[in-house]
Amino acid sequence: APVAASPVADPLDRVRSDATGQTLTTNQGVQIADNQHSLKVGLRGPTALEDFILREKITHFDHERIPERVVHARGSAAHGYFEAYQDLSKVTRAAPFAAAGKQTPVFVRFSTVAGERGSTDTARDVRGFAVKFYTDEGNWDLVGNNIPVFFIQDAMKFPDLVHAVKPEPNNGIPQAASAHDTFWDFASLSPESVHMMLWTMSDRAIPRSYRMMQGFGVHSYRMVNAEGESVFVKFHWTPVAGTHSLVWDEAVKISGADPDFHRRDLWESIEAGAFPEWELALQIFTEEQAAGFGFDILDSTKLIPEELVPLTPVGKMVLNRNPDNFFAETEQVAFCVAHVVPGIDFSNDPLLQGRIHSYLDTQITRLGGVNFHEIPINSPVAPVYNNQRDGHHRQAIHRGRVAYEPNSLAGGSPAQAGYRRGFTTFPEHIVEDKVRGKAELFADHYSQARLFWQSQTTPEKQHIVKAFRFELSRVQTLAVRERVVSLLMNVADELAQGVAGGLGMPLPEAAPVLALQPLPSYEPSPALSLMNF
Ligand code: HEM
Repeated sequence: APVAASPVADPLDRVRSDATGQTLTTNQGVQIADNQHSLKVGLRGPTALEDFILREKITHFDHERIPERVVHARGSAAHGYFEAYQDLSKVTRAAPFAAAGKQTPVFVRFSTVAGERGSTDTARDVRGFAVKFYTDEGNWDLVGNNIPVFFIQDAMKFPDLVHAVKPEPNNGIPQAASAHDTFWDFASLSPESVHMMLWTMSDRAIPRSYRMMQGFGVHSYRMVNAEGESVFVKFHWTPVAGTHSLVWDEAVKISGADPDFHRRDLWESIEAGAFPEWELALQIFTEEQAAGFGFDILDSTKLIPEELVPLTPVGKMVLNRNPDNFFAETEQVAFCVAHVVPGIDFSNDPLLQGRIHSYLDTQITRLGGVNFHEIPINSPVAPVYNNQRDGHHRQAIHRGRVAYEPNSLAGGSPAQAGYRRGFTTFPEHIVEDKVRGKAELFADHYSQARLFWQSQTTPEKQHIVKAFRFELSRVQTLAVRERVVSLLMNVADELAQGVAGGLGMPLPEAAPVLALQPLPSYEPSPALSLMNF
């Protein structure tokens, strides 16, 4: 039988209200006599400034909008739970994996990346797949995408990537597509993006449904057990309904007929009781194994082939409840890569390291100050207590005159949890020069792009070629088209020829490729089988 989910079954109950039996009031609780007419000096005269009821109503309306997310602005979300298949304490002390059958409440938001809040669901784009676990040891957010790799390797390039993808600053065109000069200009000058470029030109970037998408943590993370031992992991969500895509013609037609296609599909299937499910699996590997892989596990443009490290299924996630209020929940939810719990830790992936900073920082603007962790959808079910105070919209009323630690005036300082119970960073040993740059294996941009191309069936390959042709045909600058094709020459001749032929251009020379020292090939070691369940 499943173990109890969490101390609070539905933490949002405390703030829910509905219209049943209610009388309209002002925000101060004063009952409103007439909600149809403003206060006038004579029935045909001017409106009185005194009308505080009208002014409160209009003022609140005037301020209804908050900034949209700087990326992933368009999204849909649902509540549900994660249930562990087994006790994973050998690998991690993270609360959701403590016992077979243990359930942890989750809130999951799916999104497109580039489009604005009102943009269409079926645009060609990466999809966000963000999961908030309300664990009994604090919130853990696994903020992933439906594609297992990323365009860039270093957070330093993220603002440039997004500025290239987003509508052009002079005319705001195009709203939600990659079909423009700036995106392809940037991508063609960033050869590390080739692998992800292929994924985004594939059918993966036009999913059939949010219910039919994979999800990936992308980066290597660490898991740490109660003894302080650590392994690396990659996170994989696999939809029970299977991974399915649209084809481009369908995506374009649906986009016109029903721009809410994915939002409606998720909502309606949950309302109908057809609850979407995913299996969570881990790729578990050690530092020693990683050293023999032939690519760098800190490089987010690389995945770990399942031949090297098979998937270990660890639990399932079920989404079984729609939000009551889109704004209060889906819009105000704040996922953050830095939200980890004891047992989960970061790797040194330079993209991940930048993300650790970015989310909280942007949410201070988006959600109006530093207290948005108190918004119900964001607040943990685990107890929260610390000496942070004040700031806009503070809800908690801490009593007494002491907001510091150590202290002797409050009847004793609040206790620190200590290293066994509290969050403890894995004490990785590092002695290195402080430098800018990248590790050698980060320079291999093509091996895995080739692997991806070779893994595709003939119709899938044709779709990729057609997508490149369509997108590049919208690019006005011929030198940009040429640079993209010169990158593709390093992936596969048939790909480059198909794209160039479709655009009526001659084949350019292949882009220069950096020579790498080959690493010894990887052989599964006994340690890996230890980690397999
Ligand atoms: C949203 C930054 C890379 C997945 C966001 C937001 C920012 C951001 C500022 C808006 C957050 C908000 O307003 O609440 C960055 C930076 C990155 C990066 C600086 C690289 C350095 C990635 C990668 C992934 C990813 C690699 C996937 C593994 C997401 C998702 C959301 C998001 C899913 C939407 C969360 C939601 O549904 O609210 N990102 N991002 N991002 N990012 Fe990233």
